[in-house]
Amino acid sequence: IKRDSKFAEITEDHVKFFKELLGKEAAVIDGVTKDATDDIEPFNGDWMRKYRGHTKLVLKPGSTEEVSNILKYCNDNMLAVVPQGGNTGLVGGSVPVFDEIVINMSRINQIRSFDEVSGTLVVDAGAILEVVDGYLAERGNIFPLDLGAKGSCQIGGNVATNAGGLRLLRYGSLHGSVLGIEAVLPDGTIVDDLSKLRKNNTGYDLKQLFIGAEGTIGIITGVSILCPQRSKAINVAFLGLESYEKVQEAFKAAKGQLSEILSAFELMDNQSQNLVQQVTKNKRPLESAHPFYCLIETSGSNSEHDNEKLQSFLEDVMEKEIVSDGVVAENETQVRNLWGWREGIPESLGHWGGVYKYDLSIPISELYSLVEETREKITKAGLIGDTDEHPVVDVVGYGHMGDSNLHLNVATRRYDKNVEKELEPFVYEWISKRSGSISAEHGLGLAKKAYIGHSRSDTMIALMKQIKKLYDPNGIMNPYKYI
Ligand code: FAD
Ligand code: MLT
Ligand code: ZN
Repeated sequence: IKRDSKFAEITEDHVKFFKELLGKEAAVIDGVTKDATDDIEPFNGDWMRKYRGHTKLVLKPGSTEEVSNILKYCNDNMLAVVPQGGNTGLVGGSVPVFDEIVINMSRINQIRSFDEVSGTLVVDAGAILEVVDGYLAERGNIFPLDLGAKGSCQIGGNVATNAGGLRLLRYGSLHGSVLGIEAVLPDGTIVDDLSKLRKNNTGYDLKQLFIGAEGTIGIITGVSILCPQRSKAINVAFLGLESYEKVQEAFKAAKGQLSEILSAFELMDNQSQNLVQQVTKNKRPLESAHPFYCLIETSGSNSEHDNEKLQSFLEDVMEKEIVSDGVVAENETQVRNLWGWREGIPESLGHWGGVYKYDLSIPISELYSLVEETREKITKAGLIGDTDEHPVVDVVGYGHMGDSNLHLNVATRRYDKNVEKELEPFVYEWISKRSGSISAEHGLGLAKKAYIGHSRSDTMIALMKQIKKLYDPNGIMNPYKYI
């Protein structure tokens, strides 16, 4: 892609305007004026070290009004922008491609209100997920989303990507739990739709457009969201299984026997666990190795009752030889430790250099075949091995089995064109043939821009473009990305 010449380049005058608007500390500048401030590079690079932009200016507004003033000025002056939350996104959507201005939301981070009876939370978009969940925990509630990046990702980023995470099975999608949104359009208009109502059938539900829009139509500044009661009893089991068929049987049994207390059903293959172990050096939860592992979590109100249910489920699936081995956490430390083998996967896979990440919705019966076929393809091409001349360390599969969401990851020593050629468009065509989704939960960003047609029809794409044009006629919002 080429830089679009319709966008203006940043000048000293622009910088002067922003400094007057926000104060000196709220801008990180490099390469425009002589007074380069802090290091601008962290805002230009993504979490995977795969995408790198060239912004010269990062703005950190402190209020919705400041976001509005920034965007109006950018729109009037044809300055392109990238909204940025915690910068943990996995599709290259949160960093500039060229010199777009980064609008970093970290300073807009307050909790606005919480109603303990209804569980309705109103929160600034820049608040960090873990901080918000900690606030809710003290009040007996839980944020209806949890993911491995919780220590850095922001509520606004979560909503902008429609993140799914580890307990979607229990708490559902943000399309259901988000009750209202405050957002700023490119022309500076503040859209105040911070409704706290559970039910509100009064025309188009426009807030839904911002959920998963990846910063392409406006900047989310506030969110109101329904936060359920925190379960008093959490139990976690970690199981070893011999085949993907058995994994499916275990999932069916878990839904049947654990029913309303089942809160997560996660899948990890042995390859993924091997890589976690190589990085963390921790002792594996089960004595011997198995091709597949499942992490099952229950959340309920009665520890004894839930434990009993989980134990009898385990006895049943072991007796029927669905599950070969299993362990149940006996205290909170063990709960965290078992979750670590699942949540720690993304970070461990990046240890060798790079990761090709595919986040896919697949009919459950075929979910793991893609990993096997991809591993075979990469092996045949001679790209996988233990030595430095082989770019690929391993091909692994893990994910949210409970949502039919596979993460196919190829851990590499470096990003390599030959590896990429083996993987793309192969993976996307495989998905398309099965009417799956090329992005279950991470979005499209820059990474999957070229492949949207594998999951959406021409008619759908044309409608999306019309919406983009309506909200952002000058195209300044997160350009060069999927739309
Ligand atoms: P960023 O990365 O900063 O931005 C993501 C996108 O949203 C960009 O396009 C950006 O322009 C836009 N954006 C950010 N803030 C705003 C805003 N206020 N208004 C408008 N647009 C905005 N995802 C899952 O779905 N499930 C998981 O289980 C999961 N686990 C993860 C684990 C790890 C270790 C990591 C690194 C990532 C994981 N992710 C997961 C990816 C996920 O998309 C992000 O973690 C999170 O939702 C992004 O939040 P963020 O604040 O970091 O957003
Ligand atoms: C996860 O489920 O761990 C996240 O979506 C991150 C990833 O895909 O690696
Ligand atoms: Zn995930």
